[in-house]
Amino acid sequence: MIDPWESTDFDYEKVIEQFGIKSFPDLIKELDNPHKLMRRGVIFGHRDFTNIIHAIKNKKRFTVLTGMMPSGNMHIGHKMIVDQIVWYQKYDANIRIPIADLEAYSARGISFEESKKLAIQEYITNYIALGVDFEKENVTTYLQSKESIVKDLAFILSKKVNFNEMKAIYGFGGSTNMAHMQAPLIQVSDILHTELNEFAGPKPVIVPVGVDQDPHIRLTRDLAYKFKSQYGFISPSSTYHRFMTGLNGGKMSSSKPKTAIFLSDSSEIAEQKVKTTKTGGRESLKEQKELGGDPNNCVIYELFLYHLIDSDDELNEIYINCKNGTCLCGYCKNKASELTVKFFEKFSEKREEASEIAKNVLNKD
Ligand code: TRP
Ligand code: SF4
Repeated sequence: MIDPWESTDFDYEKVIEQFGIKSFPDLIKELDNPHKLMRRGVIFGHRDFTNIIHAIKNKKRFTVLTGMMPSGNMHIGHKMIVDQIVWYQKYDANIRIPIADLEAYSARGISFEESKKLAIQEYITNYIALGVDFEKENVTTYLQSKESIVKDLAFILSKKVNFNEMKAIYGFGGSTNMAHMQAPLIQVSDILHTELNEFAGPKPVIVPVGVDQDPHIRLTRDLAYKFKSQYGFISPSSTYHRFMTGLNGGKMSSSKPKTAIFLSDSSEIAEQKVKTTKTGGRESLKEQKELGGDPNNCVIYELFLYHLIDSDDELNEIYINCKNGTCLCGYCKNKASELTVKFFEKFSEKREEASEIAKNVLNKD
């Protein structure tokens, strides 16, 4: 079972097998201009993504919906979702971004005031600084607690799911509080309300998420089917990305600042963090030259792969030269530090500009 609020370790191959997620690399050739995270296998799985390929190719309307629970500061792992949103923006997709304050309240005990503050100062600010353009008419965000259409639909949908099903999907038990039990229905409704007539009716929806969110996707697809005759829902599609490893080799987590580079970090702090990052290097220089390093277990390489290097050729060269022992960790760390500093110097400026715009985004209508 995957517990979206607790699971941290994923065996991606097993998840594909056990839950019937399809391999993303298998269909990548059908995209003309795949995103870097797609090309590089970071996005490893999907459900029904062919619907989205079809919409892109035929210039049909579709919606990208993906949200975040405002539970702390955003780190570079969260950036991956936003990078994908920005990519979909190029295809003129409707972009809709829920801010999961109901979920944060029910699963983490965070107050609505705190969520709203985080939403504006942290989430929306980062979205804008990373390139999400809320000035476009078809790009919107909302707080779950303030969106009655979402809450109403959640209530309607919950008629067709019972406790035993929720228990089987999420492991809920007799001591799970009722707000927590409702949070998944709100998320289902986040996704499906975009197909209501108020939002121009049924259309393909893509939900790019980390694989920890798949239980919600399964529930959503199940309910889309059960309410198909009433609303005409098209079952939503999803993609799943791998998680970034923490800087120390464990899990990257907002609650452990040393494991993560935060989007709000200064370039100095980010640089320092890169310098302490775990590599896949050998014990000694001699050994590394003889045996090569292990880029597949190297967090510095991950930084290149997920964020810092855009050219596939350049990345590939580092990979090969790491394995054959001609590229050494000192070189990579310097390069990663330089690129990180460059990114964060620019990004903190963008964040500053974005923070002004962010104040008004929730009032847009
Ligand atoms: N549950 C997600 C998280 O923990 C946030 C979320 C809320 C979401 N609604 C969504 C994600 C709809 C994808 C689609 O971050
Ligand atoms: Fe990682 Fe570079 Fe060292 Fe290879 S040489 S293990 S890619 S830091």
